[in-house]
Amino acid sequence: MTERGQWSSRLGFVLSAAGSAVGLANVWAFPYRAGQNGGAAFVVIYLACIFLICFPFLLAEINLGRFTQKNAMGAIRAIRPRGSWLGLGVLCISAGFCILSFYSVVAGWSLGYIFKMLAANETSFPEFAASPIQTLPLLLAFIMLTAFVVYRGIQHGIERWSKLLMPTLVVLMVALILHGLTLPGAAAGLDFFLRPDFSKVTGRTIVTAMGQAFFSLSLGIGGVLTYGSYLSKDENIVSAGTWVVLLDSLIALLAGLMIFPALFSFGQQPTEGPALVFIVLPAIFAALPAGNILGAAFFVMLTIAALTSTISLMELLVAYFVDERGWARGKITWLLGGAIFVFGIPSALSHGAVPALSQMAWFGGKSFLEFMIFVWFDIVPPLGALLFCIFIGWVWGIGKAADELAQGSPGFRKSFLGLPIRADRLWGFFIRFVCPLAIVAIWINAVFFD
Ligand code: PHE
Repeated sequence: MTERGQWSSRLGFVLSAAGSAVGLANVWAFPYRAGQNGGAAFVVIYLACIFLICFPFLLAEINLGRFTQKNAMGAIRAIRPRGSWLGLGVLCISAGFCILSFYSVVAGWSLGYIFKMLAANETSFPEFAASPIQTLPLLLAFIMLTAFVVYRGIQHGIERWSKLLMPTLVVLMVALILHGLTLPGAAAGLDFFLRPDFSKVTGRTIVTAMGQAFFSLSLGIGGVLTYGSYLSKDENIVSAGTWVVLLDSLIALLAGLMIFPALFSFGQQPTEGPALVFIVLPAIFAALPAGNILGAAFFVMLTIAALTSTISLMELLVAYFVDERGWARGKITWLLGGAIFVFGIPSALSHGAVPALSQMAWFGGKSFLEFMIFVWFDIVPPLGALLFCIFIGWVWGIGKAADELAQGSPGFRKSFLGLPIRADRLWGFFIRFVCPLAIVAIWINAVFFD
């Protein structure tokens, strides 16, 4: 078998997994989705999903990866060599591929905005996004960047880059928040983001918040599983997982704090949609002293965040081809890069370049990109998580899963936060009942009662 590689340290794993989690979903999508769904109420539901559904599931997904030391498909096969469960592996691989195709388009915009800011170029966002001469090369450049890191392998590629890029991200965000809070009128933005109004919540809001929680933590499609497979047996999954969840939600909240005060201060609307950071922020930066430098810094940060996520998406695919099919890492990485570029073209052309893709009548007049977001962001990750919960809790067996999870996590067999219940029992109950039923209930509520 090919040399699979391993993380050099716990920190390497935590930062890489947090790097996978923190991405466009936190910085680009979270503010616009919170903005469209009423602000603070959305934030509260999102946080509830994170801690009550996603956190137990995150442990389960890492755990399955570490137990099998395999990629998404290999892990399922290790437990059920034949039968329809392999379909879940197929779902994971397809999700990795499809997410990369549209995600890289947005990441390419972000890459382009670094140069646009530095050059103080005033073309509007709609004009920029509708110009294939700009967006297609950016898409390709971003995919190549991802492929380059993945090609270098676990320790030298992903881990080294994550250690460098993650702290840079946090420092840049905090600086932008501190600046934003000094602006006149910033308090209205804080109010919108922090004071919940539950009367605006619909079933759709909850589905969106749940999708946001899963996608933002990179769950349900085997990406975290793959990262878990590079962990050694004495690693404490519970504490590593706790760090990942805390870092990811912290950065989403920081993104909100960074955007809303500035947004309200400049009298802009929070309901702008996917273009929010690209339309509103440059307008804000333009009014600031040294705004183009600040703006460029922001988009460097957004591109960094996106890169550590696409690295994990590509690693999910590469691990499958290397482990299961015996391909050489280098070859498959570049081949996948080419294929993802080709599949990304429709998303790239759907923001004005090709009218038929930009306003699709059968999808409520929305764009192909928004269609991809609906399927692969809102629906598939919770669906994958639902199936993984059943697979881990009932097929693999919750007892075996808990035995694996307890390795390296001594506190897992003891009382949970001093309550009269053991952490492992509580976790098993969540994986077998609470998480799957909650996901189904949230969908049923949206389909039948909205
Ligand atoms: N979690 C990443 C983000 O927040 C996206 C992602 C999803 C990455 C699924 C890997 C797997 O942007």
